[in-house]
Amino acid sequence: MSPIKTMVAGTFGAALLALPVTLPAAADETAPANLANACAGCHGTDGISPGPTPSINEISEEDMIALLTAFKNDEAAVTMMNRIAKGYTDAEIAAIAAYFASMM
Ligand code: HEC
Repeated sequence: MSPIKTMVAGTFGAALLALPVTLPAAADETAPANLANACAGCHGTDGISPGPTPSINEISEEDMIALLTAFKNDEAAVTMMNRIAKGYTDAEIAAIAAYFASMM
């Protein structure tokens, strides 16, 4: 490898190594909008579903907490949300519910 190519590769490699250290620090995974982002893949941007998955953009804060808590505790006959809701603490569920309600 020529000295220049080696230098370029070295700089690029260093930049790649630095990425995992800087990215997580920049994103706050517990911010309500970031928690709600995890729903967008199935329920659409801002909870407005483009497909067969139900839209969740017009659910009140109380109803959303009740639904997600029921899913989490296996108290509703669902196929997917039971598994998803288990990944959130009660505080995170409250934050998600408040976030979607704030957009109504
Ligand atoms: C992997 C796809 C997927 C993701 C991600 C997902 N959901 Fe769901 N959601 C579903 C499906 C499918 C249903 C229909 C019920 C079932 O079978 O689980 C549903 C149903 C719901 C319902 C009930 C809606 C109604 O009208 O009955 C709510 C509320 C809900 N999801 C909230 C959320 C929230 C909040 C998130 C993000 C934290 C989320 N979902 C993430 C797939 C998903």
